[in-house]
Amino acid sequence: MQATITLLPGDGIGPEVMAQAEQLLTELGALTGHSFQTHRRLIGGAAIDAVGQALPGNTLAACRQSDAVLLGAVGGPKWDDPEASIRPEQGLLQLREQLGLFANLRPVKPHPAMIHASPIRPERLAGVDLVVVRELTGGLYFGRKLALADMAEDVCRYSREEIERVVRRAAALARTRRRRLTLVDKANVLATSRLWRRVTKELVQREFPDIALEILLVDAAAMHLLSRPAEFDVIVTENLFGDILTDEAAMLAGSMGLLPSASLGNSGPGLYEPIHGSAPDLAGQDKANPFAMLLSVAMMLEHSLGLVEEARLVERAVSDCIAASETTADLGGRLGTVEAAAAVRSRLRSATVGSQDRKPAASKETHATTPVYSVA
Ligand code: NAD
Ligand code: IPM
Ligand code: MN
Repeated sequence: MQATITLLPGDGIGPEVMAQAEQLLTELGALTGHSFQTHRRLIGGAAIDAVGQALPGNTLAACRQSDAVLLGAVGGPKWDDPEASIRPEQGLLQLREQLGLFANLRPVKPHPAMIHASPIRPERLAGVDLVVVRELTGGLYFGRKLALADMAEDVCRYSREEIERVVRRAAALARTRRRRLTLVDKANVLATSRLWRRVTKELVQREFPDIALEILLVDAAAMHLLSRPAEFDVIVTENLFGDILTDEAAMLAGSMGLLPSASLGNSGPGLYEPIHGSAPDLAGQDKANPFAMLLSVAMMLEHSLGLVEEARLVERAVSDCIAASETTADLGGRLGTVEAAAAVRSRLRSATVGSQDRKPAASKETHATTPVYSVA
């Protein structure tokens, strides 16, 4: 197959992990015969520095003409001036809005080898396999804003239609999994949350009677995510709550450097990015974990390009590296960004060559069953 992919490296560790995503695609192309045509474009702080805009017109145009978009990260201290009229993050928010990417899928499945590295007790982590479906183009992020000298305002607004489309996506996903859906809201305080609750109950009753719906207030959900994470299947929630809860959920997996995401609309290209940011504390040091970025490539292969078997191969290669402790320091390993990504490509090569006369990789479990990882 032929695919056109726009690469948006962005800022901080973004370009470092993106370089590894690009190399992975080159390797995968050579191994499978697929043609991945990549085009780099500016976004975020890098774009502000170059052309004075966080999302230049030619970046958006290239994204629209692509089959999929990969993004590293945006932002950093250089552009953090509170008086600045333009911020790198606006570029990412505009891109999500312009491409209509209302559903952000953030899967969390701790690797068995990482369970002892997590700050959460191992017995609580056994069996954790959840996906947060975060609403991505509404709520506080996109409501009316007002900033005066001594008063500021961010309006939170949701319509029935905005809620229905993302809940429908989340419930359909739950149907392919364990058929449990958890709505997280703050209906004891927020009018928007009461609308979320009513619309979600109606929709699930009407269109997904086979799905078990649970409803949690967001403060309690933050606790339940740590005290009984294995009980969650699909969590659906508004934009801001989803942002916060997924950084918390990253700690179930053991590192911010492990969580990928897919942002999807009803049509057009999807956007794939790690959930982490530009990590200014690691930037330029070859320390960033590239796995969240590589797993975002896997999500792109699956969701935008229909290459499910290839996606499983990439996930398997990452998983095997974690099991063998071929990781960056955040996971207890000794490798740099470049070496860790090279280890993934090397495992990908062996798996692909080894599978020429078997037909197995895609059907194997994502996780090694006998991990040999030990915490350093
Ligand atoms: P961050 O996610 O960049 O970093 C939080 C912590 O996680 C840091 O300790 C960092 O070292 C660690 N971390 C992050 N990515 C890692 C990786 N790949 N490997 C190992 N460790 C990793 O969040 P922050 O420091 O709050 O934000 C920094 C900047 O990034 C801000 O400007 C913020 O707006 C931006 N940001 C961008 C995105 C995005 O582009 N999608 C997401 C979040 C934050
Ligand atoms: C994320 C980030 C972004 C968000 C920022 C950079 C705008 O934190 O993708 O999780 O809040 O959505
Ligand atoms: Mn975030």
